[in-house]
Amino acid sequence: SARKYLIAGNWKMNLNSAEGAELAKDVVSLVGAQTDVTVCVCPTFTALESVSQVVNNSNIQLGAQNMHFEASGAYTGEISAEMLRHLFTNFVILGHSERREYFGETDAIVNKKTLAALAANLKPIVCVGETLEEREAGKVNEVIKTQLEGALVGVEADAADALVIAYEPVWAIGTGKTATPEMAEEVHAEIRCMLAGLIGEEAADKVRILYGGSMKPENADDLLAQKNIDGGLIGGAALKANSFAALVESAQ
Ligand code: G3H
Repeated sequence: SARKYLIAGNWKMNLNSAEGAELAKDVVSLVGAQTDVTVCVCPTFTALESVSQVVNNSNIQLGAQNMHFEASGAYTGEISAEMLRHLFTNFVILGHSERREYFGETDAIVNKKTLAALAANLKPIVCVGETLEEREAGKVNEVIKTQLEGALVGVEADAADALVIAYEPVWAIGTGKTATPEMAEEVHAEIRCMLAGLIGEEAADKVRILYGGSMKPENADDLLAQKNIDGGLIGGAALKANSFAALVESAQ
């Protein structure tokens, strides 16, 4: 397919602005010149500016971990798409399971954020995924369908190049348990099929679908070899430049 792999590092609530800049420097020196794979690092809001300065003039792109859907106004503690764009942010992670679980994010909120991100020329990385309980109850497709359709209301075919979906089985996040490549591929293929129903087959074929959940250099090759796995959203292994760079190399 014509889809370019995307390796995105989600640093979560780790690293201050100085520490973030240090890690970004190491990432730039290891994989900042390659062009085969789209590479993106997603620091905390307070580290966005320092990391932006470091990755500027390299092939490393910048992502944020969240944003608000309004452009400005009385929304204490929030950050807008425009503010992210001002720092040359390219991507924004939306609806991560941690935000859904700890901060009450609903599909309706994720939808508003997705539309706002696209309107501001930010590429949304929309996260979906089932809990262990839901998997054991045989509800994987049902859960993914609700999250995906809910997040993408009003999203049209012309958004396909910008749109990224991340499939993150909640039980695999930070647990060391990875979905087997076959289990992941089954869901990725289903997601692409659902996307075809929403935006048409041709557009669905352009959307990058990332796997997330304890992805590391040891398991990346097999995951990335799957037909519908177009990269990874990486937590723990993105906090070390060497392992993150090894993941980029797996995708090359
Ligand atoms: O956004 C990243 C995912 O939540 C995966 O995190 O690689 O630490 O399991 P992890």
